[in-house]
Amino acid sequence: AVTWVEVGAWTYNYSDQGDYTWEQARNYCQTFFTDLVAIQNKREIEHLNESVPFHGRYYWIGIRKLGGTWTWVGTRKALTKEAENWAAGEPNNRRSNQDCVEIYIKRQRESGKWNDEPCNRRKRALCYQASCQPFPCSQRGECVETIKSYRCKCYPGFHGPECEDVVQCAKLEPKGARMNCSHPFGDFSYNSTCAFECQEGFERRGASTLRCLPSQQWSAETPTCTAVACPQLAAPERGRVDCSHPHGTFAFNSTCAFSCQEGFEPTGVRRSGAPAALRRLNLIYPVSETCSPTAAIACPVLSAPDRGELNCSHLHGDFAFGSTCAFSCQTGFALMGSESRECTATGTWTGDAPRCEAIACPVLSAPARGELNCSHLHGDFAFGATCAFSCQTGFALRGPESRECTATGTWTGDAPRCEAITCPVLSAPDRGELNCSHLHGDFAFGSTCAFSCQTGFVLTGLESRECTATGTWTGDAPRCKAVACPVLSAPDRGELNCSHLHGDFTFGSTCAFSCQMGFALMGLESRECTAMGTWTGGAPQCEAITCPVLSAPDRGELNCSHLHGDFAFGSKCAFSCQTGFALRGSESRECTATGTWTGDAPRCEVIKCSALVTPKMGEAACSHLHGDFAFGSTCAFSCQMGFVLMGSESRECTATGTWTGDTPQCKAISCPVLDSPSRGQLSCSHVHGNFTYNSTCTFSCEEGFVRMGAEVLLCAATGNWTRHPPVCAEDGAPFLKQVLAYSSGTALAVAGVVLSGILIALLAKRLSDREEKKKLLNPTSDLGSPGIFTNAAYDANL
Ligand SMILES: *[C@@H]1O[C@H](CO)[C@@H](O)[C@H](O)[C@H]1NC(C)=O
Ligand SMILES: *[C@@H]1O[C@H](CO)[C@@H](O)[C@H](O)[C@H]1NC(C)=O
Ligand SMILES: *[C@@H]1O[C@H](CO)[C@@H](O)[C@H](O)[C@H]1NC(C)=O
Ligand SMILES: *[C@@H]1O[C@H](CO)[C@@H](O)[C@H](O)[C@H]1NC(C)=O
Ligand SMILES: *[C@@H]1O[C@H](CO)[C@@H](O)[C@H](O)[C@H]1NC(C)=O
Ligand SMILES: *[C@@H]1O[C@H](CO)[C@@H](O)[C@H](O)[C@H]1NC(C)=O
Ligand SMILES: *[C@@H]1O[C@H](CO)[C@@H](O)[C@H](O)[C@H]1NC(C)=O
Ligand SMILES: *[C@@H]1O[C@H](CO)[C@@H](O)[C@H](O)[C@H]1NC(C)=O
Ligand SMILES: *[C@@H]1O[C@H](CO)[C@@H](O)[C@H](O)[C@H]1NC(C)=O
Repeated sequence: AVTWVEVGAWTYNYSDQGDYTWEQARNYCQTFFTDLVAIQNKREIEHLNESVPFHGRYYWIGIRKLGGTWTWVGTRKALTKEAENWAAGEPNNRRSNQDCVEIYIKRQRESGKWNDEPCNRRKRALCYQASCQPFPCSQRGECVETIKSYRCKCYPGFHGPECEDVVQCAKLEPKGARMNCSHPFGDFSYNSTCAFECQEGFERRGASTLRCLPSQQWSAETPTCTAVACPQLAAPERGRVDCSHPHGTFAFNSTCAFSCQEGFEPTGVRRSGAPAALRRLNLIYPVSETCSPTAAIACPVLSAPDRGELNCSHLHGDFAFGSTCAFSCQTGFALMGSESRECTATGTWTGDAPRCEAIACPVLSAPARGELNCSHLHGDFAFGATCAFSCQTGFALRGPESRECTATGTWTGDAPRCEAITCPVLSAPDRGELNCSHLHGDFAFGSTCAFSCQTGFVLTGLESRECTATGTWTGDAPRCKAVACPVLSAPDRGELNCSHLHGDFTFGSTCAFSCQMGFALMGLESRECTAMGTWTGGAPQCEAITCPVLSAPDRGELNCSHLHGDFAFGSKCAFSCQTGFALRGSESRECTATGTWTGDAPRCEVIKCSALVTPKMGEAACSHLHGDFAFGSTCAFSCQMGFVLMGSESRECTATGTWTGDTPQCKAISCPVLDSPSRGQLSCSHVHGNFTYNSTCTFSCEEGFVRMGAEVLLCAATGNWTRHPPVCAEDGAPFLKQVLAYSSGTALAVAGVVLSGILIALLAKRLSDREEKKKLLNPTSDLGSPGIFTNAAYDANL
C-alpha cells in the first residue's frame, strides 16, 4: 500500500526579469530554486495557469527531447503517455529542432497545454522550489513534489506521513520449536525473520524461516516439531513387550521392556537398519529380544560405545556372569554413564550403557555486523566443530577467519570483530560546510555527508556523498560556486570598473561607473552583485552636460549642431546676421564639458554709411530705418528757389556701407550774360555767380545820353532778367525816355506804343504810382520759403 501525504510547502516561481533560452532558464531555476517545473498532474497545471501571469512568449518547463524521447529533465524519466498534455496538433516539430517544451499560460486557446519549441527561443523560466528534504520520508520512501507540498511514496512495509511506521505481523508463538528471530525494524514487524529449530529427536514440519511481509502476513505457516519415529517393536515368542510412548507410538523417547515366560530367558540379537535420525543422535538402539530356555547365566553381549572402546575381561565365559567391561572414549569425547559394567547373577549388567559424547566448547555467536557458518562434526559447538566468520557488506573482519573446537573444550584463536570499512576523511568545500552523520564510525561505511554553501554560493555537484562498502565515496567532491549575476556593460559614453571578489560578475563583485569628459552620471555610482544573483540598483546612464539654451541675436540667426543633445556638451552654434548687419563678437560658440559656452554672446550691428551733408542752398530730408546714416537710411535732396539740383535726387545707404548715386549740388540758375550798353556802363553784383539768380545789374549812361529803359535788372528764378536791358540815347526825348523806362519788361511792342499816344499816357499815369513801381522791382518778396521738408518733417523722419 502506497501512502500519499501532504506536508510542508511546495512553491513555484518564474523569471520576470527577462526571457531566456531553455538552457538559461534551467540554469536560472537551478540557481534560485530547484529546477524547471515538472508537471505531475492536471491540478498542478490548473494551479500554474491560475497563478502565473500571462506572458506573450510563454514559459519554459522541464521537459526536453533527449535521444528522441521526451524526458522530464529533473528525474530523467521518460514522459509517459498518460502524463502528456500537448496542445492540439503538437508536438509538430515544425523546424525539426523543436526539442524543448513551453506551457501556454492564460492563452486564449489551449491554455495550460504544451507546445514544442526550438530551445534557443527566449521565454520565461517557470521554476519550482522543492519541498523534499535531503533525507526525505525517513529514507523509507520516495519523496514526490506536489503543489505547495510533497508526498512520501513509502516503500513496501512502511507507512505513515513520513513513512515512519512499519508494518506489524502477528507475534509468533511456536509450540515445541525453538525460534530465533532478527527484527531489523521492530519486534515482529516488516522484514523480521524467524528461524525455527527442533529439539533433539524431533523433526520440523514446515518452513525453516519465516519473514514478515509488507502484507502483514508471514511468508509461511508457523512450523511444528514432531518426534522422530522408530520401527514398531513386536513382543518376542513366549514373551511380552511393554512400551511407554511420551511423544507418540514408537517415536523418539518411546521405551519398551521385554520379558519372557517362566523357564525362558531373553537373549538379545542386534538389529540392523536403525533409523538415520537415531544414528545421528548416537543413541543405543533397543534390541529385539527372543526368549530362549534358561541355561548358564549369561549377560547380553556388550559392544563398544560409538567413538569409544570396550575392554572386557571374561571370568566365566564371554559376557557371562562375572565378566567386567571397562569403557573408554576416543580423544575429544567424554564418557557419559558407567565407566565399567559387570555381569550379575541375574544375567544383567550393572549400570547403564555409557555413551561417548563429544567435549563441548562454549557456544559461539556471530560478531556484530557479521555472520557465523559452523559445521558441527560431533554435535553443536562440540569437539571437531569449525566456525567460519564473515562480515556484512561494508565491514571487514579483524581476527581469525575461523575457529575450531579443540579436544580440551576451548576454541582456537580469539573472537573476531567486524569493523566498518573506512573512507578517506572528507573536508568541507571552500566557502561551504559539511554535515556528516556517521552510522558505523567516523567517515566509515554508511557515513553520509551533506554539503551546503555559504550565502551567495551555490553547490555544484552532489548534495551529499556516502561512504560505500568499497571504502570510496559516491560521486565527486562538490564545489561552492559564487552565484552569478548578469554581465554588466559600461554605459554609453562611460566606463565600468569592476572588482571581482569570487569570479567575474558573481556574488561580491562591485562595479563602479564613470562617464567620459562632458558627461555626467545619472543613477548609481556603483552596483553590487547580491547573493540573489541580482545587481543592486538600476543601470546608470551618462548624459551630456547641458549648457544654457542660446538664442539668436537680434537681427541675426543661430545655426546649432547638437552632438549629444540639445545645447549639451559638444553642441556648436554658429551665428550670422541679416543683410545689412555685421556680427560683433564670437562667430561660433561651443558647449564645453563644464556646461559653459566658449566666447561671448555676439550682437548684430547695423552697417553705417558716412554722414551726408546738406548741399549748399539746398535741403536734405532723411529717413533712418535702423540708425543715423546706417543701412536702410534714405535721403532726398532739394534746392532753394533759384537753384537746380545737380546729381542724385535721393541716396540710400546700402548693405556695403556706401551710398547709392553721387553727392548732389544746388547750382544757381543762370540768366543771359549782359553787356554794357553802347555809351553806357554796367555794374553788376553777383551773389551766387556771374549772371545767375539774384545777380543785380545797374546801368548808367555817359554824359549827354540818357538811359532809355530800366536802371536795374535782376536775374529772376526763372533764368530771365526782370527787364530788358536799357539803351543810352541822346538826351532830347524825355517822354520816350519815360515810356521806355516804365514799359520795359511789358509785352507792349514799341510799335504799339508809337500807335497810340493816349494809351501810353494813361499807362504812364498808372505806372507812376510808387507802390506799383516797388512791386515791379521786388518780384520775389511775396513768395515764402519753398520748403517741402520743414524742420518738423525732418524730425518726424528720425
Ligand atoms: C519569486 O521570487 C521572488 C524573488 O526571489 C520573490 O520576491 C517572489 O515573492 C517569488 N514569488 C513567489 C510567488 O514565490
Ligand atoms: C487558464 O486560465 C485562463 C484565464 O485565467 C482560463 O480561461 C482557462 O480556462 C484556464 N485553463 C485551464 C486549463 O485551467
Ligand atoms: C527486506 O528484506 C528484503 C529481502 O531480504 C530485502 O530485499 C529488502 O531490502 C529489505 N527491506 C529493507 C527496507 O531493508
Ligand atoms: C585391558 O585391561 C587390562 C586390565 O586392566 C589391561 O591390562 C590391558 O592393557 C587393557 N587392554 C587394552 C587394549 O586397553
Ligand atoms: C540466532 O541467530 C543468530 C544469527 O543467525 C545467531 O548468531 C544466534 O546465535 C542465534 N541464537 C540462538 C539462541 O540460536
Ligand atoms: C557454510 O560453509 C559451507 C562449507 O564451507 C558452505 O558450503 C556453505 O555454503 C556455507 N553456508 C553459508 C550460509 O555461508
Ligand atoms: C546536520 O544534519 C542533521 C540531520 O539532517 C541536522 O539535524 C543538523 O541540524 C545538521 N547540522 C548542521 C550544523 O547543519
Ligand atoms: C578601478 O578601481 C580600483 C579600486 O577603486 C582602482 O584602484 C583602479 O585604479 C581603478 N581602475 C581604473 C582603470 O579606473
Ligand atoms: C547649418 O550649418 C550646417 C553645417 O555647417 C549647414 O549644412 C546647414 O545648411 C546650416 N543651416 C542653415 C539653415 O544655415
